[in-house]
Amino acid sequence: MPQAVLEKYALIAGQTSKIIIHAPDIARKARPGNFVMLRVTETGERFPLTIADTDHDRGTITLVYLVVGKSTALLERLEAGDELLDLCGPLGKNTAIEKSGTVICVGGGTGIAAMHHLAKGHHQAGNHVIAIIGARSKNLIFFEQELSLFCPELLISTDDGSYGTKGLVTELLIERIKKDPTISEVMAVGPVPMMEAVAKVTKPFGLKTIVSLNSIMIDGVGMCGACRVTVGGETKFTCVDGPEFDGHLVDFTELKQRLRAFREQELISINQMRQIQEAAAAVS
Ligand code: NAD
Ligand code: FES
Repeated sequence: MPQAVLEKYALIAGQTSKIIIHAPDIARKARPGNFVMLRVTETGERFPLTIADTDHDRGTITLVYLVVGKSTALLERLEAGDELLDLCGPLGKNTAIEKSGTVICVGGGTGIAAMHHLAKGHHQAGNHVIAIIGARSKNLIFFEQELSLFCPELLISTDDGSYGTKGLVTELLIERIKKDPTISEVMAVGPVPMMEAVAKVTKPFGLKTIVSLNSIMIDGVGMCGACRVTVGGETKFTCVDGPEFDGHLVDFTELKQRLRAFREQELISINQMRQIQEAAAAVS
């Protein structure tokens, strides 16, 4: 396993953190769309995170995560200089990027991070990139500055209207598509209901729509079947056939059911970790 050392940590929005990891072998090969599998402790689970950015010269990759469960809470405890136990990647297929004109990249919540890498790839391929990002509230918006470096248009929405336009990203998307019939493609990364809603918006316009799926993964290399999704009636594995798929063909209902499957176990695990932390704090 190549050495992977946490170089920098920053809290960038709400409970969303950004880490820069020195992992030259992965940084050299990583392309937009790729993800890594991490393991923080010997007994911990392996979990996937999409690569938000790479710096080939410095040999680093950027990952962004929201603390939602035990694994991300453990990751949050690492400090600069700490080594990650396992970091495997880059995994998944590269985003299929070609020079096609104007592309809209939509990012919702923590999905903004993965969307950043895709948008950068489209920009580097010579496309005119329109970024649409949205979150529940102003304090959950991030990467505005980073995206504005290469996106000539950056549209922002918040559910509560505390920043940008009040409403959902799909409302901005529909307005923008109506203004410009020359758009060649829409890419969306974020919560599953958002990606489903984006695909519904673009379908009547006949617009190519790619979504990046966040299925539950165990091995990340196509062996376990945990990440299976149905796309166009066929079973696909998100880790090796994706994570990006045609949004008009994904069975979102099944995906939502599968993502709910381990919620109870996750809550039990978080509670156990809290009890251990409280007991440790009481002893010290
Ligand atoms: P959230 O629920 O706060 O939503 C973020 C934004 O997405 C909203 O502000 C809104 O603009 C849009 N949105 C949400 N639901 C929508 C709907 N039904 N219709 C239209 N627009 C909608 O997001 P969050 O809590 O930051 O997101 C966390 C979720 O995102 C987690 O479930 C995580 O697994 C997922 N995620 C997915 C990826 C991926 O690769 N697809 C990456 C990171 C996070
Ligand atoms: Fe095991 Fe994809 S995570 S097959």
